[in-house]
Amino acid sequence: MANRSEPLAGFLVLLLGAVLSFPLGPDPERIRTCGYESCHATKSNMLNVHLVPHTHDDVGWLKTVDQYFYGDRNDIQHAGVQYILDSVVDQLLKNPDRRFIYVETAFFYRWWKRQTPDMQQTVKQLVNEGRLEFVNGGWCMSDEATTHYSAVIDQMTMGLRFLNETFGSCGRPRVAWHIDPFGHAREHASMFAQMGYDGFFFGRLDYQDRARRMRDKEQELLWRASDSLIPPVADLWTGILPNGYNPPEGFCWDQSCNDPPIRDDPDLEDYNVNDVVKRFLTIANNQAVVYKTNHIIMTMGSDFQYENANLWYKNLDKLIRYVNERQANGSNVNVLYSTPSCYLQELHRTNLTWNLKTDDFFPYADNAHSFWTGYFTSRPALKRYERISNSNLQTCNQLEVFSGPDSRKGPFGEGDSQTLKKAMAVAQHHDAVSGTEKQHVANDYARRLANGWQHCQVLVSNSLAALSGSSAQRIFCDNLNISVCPLTESSKKFSVNVYNPLARPVTWPVRLPVNGTAYVVSDASGRSVECQVVPVSAATQDVRRSRGFAVNELVFQVKAPPLGFTTYSVSLLQDGPPPASKQHRAPAAIQNKFLRVTFDPETGLLSSLSNLETKQSIKLTQNFYWYNASDGNNSGSSQPSGAYIFRPNSSIPFIISKIAKTESIQTPTVQEVRQQFAPWVSQVVRLYSDSRVLELEWTVGPLPIEDDLGKEVITRLDTSIQTAQYFYTDSNGREVLQRKTDFRPTWNLKQSEPIAGNYYPINSRAFIKDDVNQLTVVTDRSQGGGSVANGSLEIMLHRRLLYDDARGVGEPLNENSGIFPEGLVIRGRLLLSLSHPSSAADVHRPLAQEVVLQPLLTFTDGDLPPKTQLEFSGLQAQLPPAVHLLTLTQWDEDSVLLRLEHQFQSWESRLNSKPVTVSLQKLFSTLDILGVSELNLSANQWKDEMTRFNWMPRTDESPPLKDFQRFSVWEVTLKPMEIRTFLLRVSHR
Ligand SMILES: *[C@@H]1O[C@H](CO)[C@@H](O)[C@H](O)[C@H]1NC(C)=O
Ligand SMILES: *[C@@H]1O[C@H](CO)[C@@H](O)[C@H](O)[C@H]1NC(C)=O
Ligand SMILES: [Zn+2]
Repeated sequence: MANRSEPLAGFLVLLLGAVLSFPLGPDPERIRTCGYESCHATKSNMLNVHLVPHTHDDVGWLKTVDQYFYGDRNDIQHAGVQYILDSVVDQLLKNPDRRFIYVETAFFYRWWKRQTPDMQQTVKQLVNEGRLEFVNGGWCMSDEATTHYSAVIDQMTMGLRFLNETFGSCGRPRVAWHIDPFGHAREHASMFAQMGYDGFFFGRLDYQDRARRMRDKEQELLWRASDSLIPPVADLWTGILPNGYNPPEGFCWDQSCNDPPIRDDPDLEDYNVNDVVKRFLTIANNQAVVYKTNHIIMTMGSDFQYENANLWYKNLDKLIRYVNERQANGSNVNVLYSTPSCYLQELHRTNLTWNLKTDDFFPYADNAHSFWTGYFTSRPALKRYERISNSNLQTCNQLEVFSGPDSRKGPFGEGDSQTLKKAMAVAQHHDAVSGTEKQHVANDYARRLANGWQHCQVLVSNSLAALSGSSAQRIFCDNLNISVCPLTESSKKFSVNVYNPLARPVTWPVRLPVNGTAYVVSDASGRSVECQVVPVSAATQDVRRSRGFAVNELVFQVKAPPLGFTTYSVSLLQDGPPPASKQHRAPAAIQNKFLRVTFDPETGLLSSLSNLETKQSIKLTQNFYWYNASDGNNSGSSQPSGAYIFRPNSSIPFIISKIAKTESIQTPTVQEVRQQFAPWVSQVVRLYSDSRVLELEWTVGPLPIEDDLGKEVITRLDTSIQTAQYFYTDSNGREVLQRKTDFRPTWNLKQSEPIAGNYYPINSRAFIKDDVNQLTVVTDRSQGGGSVANGSLEIMLHRRLLYDDARGVGEPLNENSGIFPEGLVIRGRLLLSLSHPSSAADVHRPLAQEVVLQPLLTFTDGDLPPKTQLEFSGLQAQLPPAVHLLTLTQWDEDSVLLRLEHQFQSWESRLNSKPVTVSLQKLFSTLDILGVSELNLSANQWKDEMTRFNWMPRTDESPPLKDFQRFSVWEVTLKPMEIRTFLLRVSHR
């Protein structure tokens, strides 16, 4: 039972106690004083040390998320989250002064479900009193380098929704807490600001950056995280923790630590209170020197700690008591149980101004030869699978909205979007999509995504049946990228349903594995469309092995309506012409109306790219190389390349082949030059007839390691563009940041790794430009890349390594699978466009969205029933080009969550970087909107109730004005880079 020091206060207490029967004992003062009100008092004339008891619980890393929850496989790592929560709750009840923060809702949710109503009531009371406080509160603590903003917003929404629904406003986290991610993205800070957080704490930053900030007392700052949103919308106060997220040296009292407990019996030989207090005061005073105020924070916990919380709390109680007793003898150090938000509140009360930061915290190095830039690319197959899973999930969500209950239960059984939502949320964790987990854990994330997609497939089938009026069986072909689809390989007549999750029509090339030589393809109105049969490439046959038997691919362009589907029918034509034949020499050039691409006749490599509309032309060569991964046996340092760290042995990569063996295929629909560089590297350079984009489809692997050398494979584009050391990468798929070789905007960089130290995360695009030309590369997954020489841009595609990099994962990154025991083969695409810098965004913004949210194809064998509805659009009209429909998902029985986004930065486009207005009332074709309320970005607060701390930047400019925005709820105006979130009450027409 709680040990209560306050006197009990009579009648009211008894009454409340009788009515509500609090298990903690009645005390009206303690009811609902969560948040800032529940903070312990501090002493303004002293140095206040905020002790923050916490545990860092990875949502999968060395063990799977479920193994961590139950404490299974303790032979791999001793960790059991269920015991942590059991034990912490117990210990919090023993002393009302104690505090604990909890972070990962994926775990808390698992635990909560298994508690009795009594225990749930007890925990609610702890939350209401601010003794147990949630911070961050997303489903997981997402990775910042390799995640896409769409999936990050979804996972935060899911975690915060659970907390709000379970605990109400006392469950709403006030601070964001990313203590472990390996570098920090500006877009994450922007999102956190828009989610209503008052501040943000993290643990890892470049060692040179940290040293400079300690010197200048700039470990706490104001991050202006958007160049387009009007301050303070994306301003986020940011604090760098003193010791990562660990306790100070010598003060770890977890069962997993060996530091001496406080032995406070003066009669015993080894009484050590004086020693402990002295050491603590020294550490506190040293820490105060590198921070600005008379408040400092200490993180008392670490990975999976507090499984036996008694050890920690018993010693912390004593530490607080003995350190504070010294105040009677003139000590000016005051220690208290605290939380990050209580610490933040004290800083806010100082009215200080804070230095502004406008760039980001990439790349992260923890010493001169250890740049954490390898994980930008690690596990490229998982990274692609996560990205395509997001696309599938958004389609699943939209179709659930359009068909309502009919989608969850229908002719194909019971389906749901929840399973995939959870799998995607878990996959955002900083050891999931980042690729820094053990192999068996990576397999578990992939299995979860696959299982989630199974559930969604039922939902999608049901929904399409309801919308089309036909419950003919629908087949999903998830392996079209390697030309596998049993139905199209064998069928003489089938139809293809193309669902487009974007809010504007798209044209999209479709390639279907077939065995016939000629087909007729007709669209929904019965008109035949141009199509072509081309032979399956040797590279594709190598990758698919025995999983498919098609000798040809049928190629045609589909045009799909906004947020809807159309249907194409395909019939085998018995006496068609034979497929386009291969020529065993590259043509000098391929071209369509928009682009011209030339090849070097000697080498078979690309040699130039021209935009025929704008009359721009650049020299462009492209080839594949590999860096020899350091094995740790180097003069300068023993750091090998591994899952986290990229450390090439030499800055000069090996060229895989100076020439490419080529063959080409030229048809009216598509032109291809197929290049073979080595048995394990090939590429198709592809130009569709009506496309402004050049496609490079690369296939890399299995990486040979018989020579005992780890390999990190890149492709490099060398151009005539005068880059003057600058290049550009996106942040989590949204705003673009400028990068400069061997340079950091906020400190004088001493460059010690000329390649790895110049790598940055690329989530969806990168570009190089000069005054006239911009070459943009859109990627299909997150990858690392850099621009080391003038005019050049390199992207790392695949890595296979033989050593562990000593950051905990304990395995070399050496992936294989049952199908490829000799090492994984990875296939992906880079999409290139050449434009004038002032209009490039008009091309790459929509293009990148098309890759992120790509059409979903489903197939039906034979003829469709006569009355089948062949076309559907959920919108009355397409949205303006500047507007992206980010989220449309069922929220509860009669409401849906909608996010609309302005997808251009304010400086990016003369055409599109303007405010734009959308009418909600006229948005949907089949839904009536009965009511609208606006929410914050994470949908856990009503927009008009969201208030945040007002932080002052240390600049000459006048303090930022609150962005008071009055609007009609039906007419939504979006300014550049703005995302607005609405809960709509809807009924189906
Ligand atoms: C900070 O500003 C507020 C409002 O102007 C004022 O009431 C308060 O005393 C100030 N605090 C400090 C520590 O100066
Ligand atoms: C938060 O949850 C409560 C129920 O606990 C609900 O009434 C309220 O609408 C929720 N707030 C938001 C913004 O969804
Ligand atoms: Zn972690």
